[in-house]
Amino acid sequence: MESIQAIKQRFGILGNDQKLNRAVEKAMQVAPTDISVLVTGESGVGKESIPKIIHALSHRKHGKYIAVNCGAIPEGTIDSELFGHEKGAFTGATQTRNGYFEVADGGTIFLDEVGELPLTTQVRLLRVLENGEFIKVGSSKVQKTNVRIVAATNLNMADAIKKEKFREDLYYRLSTVEIYLPPLRERKDDIHLLFRKFAADFAQKYKMPTVRLEDDAVDLLQKYRWNGNVRQLRNIAEQISVLEQERSIDALKLKEYLPGYSSNLPAVIEEKKKESDFSNEREILYKVLFDMKSDLNDLKKLTMELMENDSHQKVKEDNEGLIQKIYGNDEEEVIPEEITDEQLEVLQIPQQNAPDKQDKYYFAEEIEEEETLSLQDKELELIKKSLERHNGKRKAAADELGISERTLYRKIKQYDL
Ligand SMILES: Nc1ncnc2c1ncn2[C@@H]1O[C@H](COP(=O)(O)OP(=O)(O)OP(=O)(O)O)[C@@H](O)[C@H]1O
Ligand SMILES: [Mg+2]
Repeated sequence: MESIQAIKQRFGILGNDQKLNRAVEKAMQVAPTDISVLVTGESGVGKESIPKIIHALSHRKHGKYIAVNCGAIPEGTIDSELFGHEKGAFTGATQTRNGYFEVADGGTIFLDEVGELPLTTQVRLLRVLENGEFIKVGSSKVQKTNVRIVAATNLNMADAIKKEKFREDLYYRLSTVEIYLPPLRERKDDIHLLFRKFAADFAQKYKMPTVRLEDDAVDLLQKYRWNGNVRQLRNIAEQISVLEQERSIDALKLKEYLPGYSSNLPAVIEEKKKESDFSNEREILYKVLFDMKSDLNDLKKLTMELMENDSHQKVKEDNEGLIQKIYGNDEEEVIPEEITDEQLEVLQIPQQNAPDKQDKYYFAEEIEEEETLSLQDKELELIKKSLERHNGKRKAAADELGISERTLYRKIKQYDL
């Protein structure tokens, strides 16, 4: 018996992943029997090699091998394609036709995308599987055939059975042995190897130097989800090979080709939605926080200016850009002609007799209307008084002033208290 490596080489299967090797080994073991096999795995994982291996290593190898894509044949003609029809069976049936099950007698039929078979066809298929019998469309004569069936699907069959789209009895007949091919993301060590092979093939095909991935790009390649599996990897290797002048590809460049990383590909939104792993939400939250922080810094700057300057109008003029940035310039949003006292409420020093301890900007005690002290001086005085009242205890003073202890500490430094 040939080794797994030799078979992989013969059928162009690359990679050394354990689960992949196990799938190939299973195909080799089951080949000499007539057992029905169901090959499962996501789209693009390489399911089509398995029936070929099974056929080539079986006693049917000199018989016919017919691959039928069940998903590509219209529902109206599939029975006729598979089982044949009699002349006059339906409009257009001008001649008797032999179906694949008759033609492949003594050989193997590969029913790809078997989950797409209509329920009526499933009944016919079940009969062939059970006793090798079938009836041409429009005939009443039962015929016999000796065909080995290997089927494949990328559907979740349990789901299809639950939804009554696939017969449970047929599923059990088809999957006497199931061969599962793992998705590419679970064969991390094979990804770069496959890319190198594809890149070399395309370099030869297009007569160009081979593209090479830098370390960060290899890393990215291994972390990517590869929803389209090996097929997708091959397509991307081809695109890069053809489109990139620079033959050394880094992660930044590679990202442009990976849906979900690049912003100009329509698949991005789909992909993000599908993954729904909160990374997206986290990014949004980060963005909101950064924006808030930036707004806060702008407001602090503006507040400071107002504190240092007596003329609101001047502050407004000097900081037009900043004000616009904070309050926006949407048409519905009116930018005030003049910042009124009301709008500056939070920055006002409350009157002595109306202290509002809920107001975190409350740090006023005895300020008179006509006082000419700047806000900064007033603030300094408030801090001093509060510290005195609390015997220099910063925590208590900060609480009273409605600011954090850290802010108070900074102000003490700032005013050299
Ligand atoms: N291990 C591998 N080594 C080399 N090429 C591979 C490997 N696996 C898959 N491929 C290639 O990837 C492509 C997709 O594989 P295949 O057509 O077998 O996918 P599939 O599993 O049948 O997908 P679908 O369910 O969409 O039909 C093919 O060109 C195939 O040659
Ligand atoms: Mg396929």
